[in-house]
Amino acid sequence: MNDDPRLADPEDIPGEDDLDRSLRPRTLDAFVGQPAVREKLGIFLQAARQRGEALDHVLLAGPPGLGKTSLAAILANEMEVGFHPTSGPVLEKKGDLAAVLTQLGDGDVLFIDEIHRLNRSIEETLYPAMEDFQLDVMLGQGPSARTLRLALPHFTLVGATTRTGLLAGPLRDRFGVVERLDYYGTDDLSGIIRRSAGLLEVGITDDGAAMLAARSRGTPRIANRLLRRVRDVVQVRGTGAIDAAAAEGALRLLEVDAAGLDELDRRILRVLCETFEGRPVGLGTIADAVGESSDTIEDVYEPYLLQEGLLIRTPRGRQGTPRAFRHLGLPEPRRGDAQPGLF
Ligand SMILES: Nc1ncnc2c1ncn2[C@@H]1O[C@H](COP(=O)(O)OP(=O)(O)O)[C@@H](O)[C@H]1O
Ligand SMILES: [Mg+2]
Repeated sequence: MNDDPRLADPEDIPGEDDLDRSLRPRTLDAFVGQPAVREKLGIFLQAARQRGEALDHVLLAGPPGLGKTSLAAILANEMEVGFHPTSGPVLEKKGDLAAVLTQLGDGDVLFIDEIHRLNRSIEETLYPAMEDFQLDVMLGQGPSARTLRLALPHFTLVGATTRTGLLAGPLRDRFGVVERLDYYGTDDLSGIIRRSAGLLEVGITDDGAAMLAARSRGTPRIANRLLRRVRDVVQVRGTGAIDAAAAEGALRLLEVDAAGLDELDRRILRVLCETFEGRPVGLGTIADAVGESSDTIEDVYEPYLLQEGLLIRTPRGRQGTPRAFRHLGLPEPRRGDAQPGLF
């Protein structure tokens, strides 16, 4: 891992581990699922190539592990331009951003992960860079200080964020393309798992792939992680290909339950259903009770629990649903304790 944005290597994306790198799709065709996003990006890529222009700035939003970084790298690869990854928290000073911007080539992709975490002054430096491809640098200090205006190459900014709502309006408005990635269905996840198994040179049956897909929380990164663990189990036990039984056994070891929920998911649901017995609970209270940050709960855990109908958001807080009670094997609370209409 490399924290210096100036030295960021296209093959070395901050925060990426070896598995993510080896399994990352390189072309739009190898990117499984998200048909609407893929179709639109395919058209924009082709149009930009035909005009011989840089691609418009692209903002990708969605929970972690759904393919934002992969898509950013694919855009650069398909445009046959340089890929310069960095992230919001890494760009601390204006000089950090200037260093990155001034080393871009014509049409290159600058990828800013966690773009919602950019500080305000950097964000403001970014506006003229995105709009007019200009960068103002201050030379000197005090009365002799001057501003030098540098012309930048026409680059493409690709931003990734876990929630578009976190982005300041003026920044969001400067992206010509804004796309949201959604959780993947089990068919797409099976496809990703079979593709990864091929790359990892491990045999897998359709049942085995389906079983892992169903437990992957709609998330390709989790699908790949589960696959890797199951591969270990199969290797150690010497049972050959990954079939449903091998997958089942490994998932039990990993404490991934039938709904694909992990230990923290279940702890959140237990706080809602057991501790608070189905009454509305504030996000901060949940965070304290399970020992995670509110941001992580809101960006990583809650969206999936919402989608699965295990949790709802009400004006008074989060509540476990009847389905969550059933999932935990708890009796549903008596009427009157809970939000009217929910039970
Ligand atoms: N649509 C997809 N098709 C195939 N593999 C994918 C897809 N989306 C994600 N992956 C896999 O999941 C891993 C995590 O994806 P990544 O792009 O890092 O997600 P994000 O940046 O949204 O957190 C990648 O390394 C890749 O192997
Ligand atoms: Mg990423």
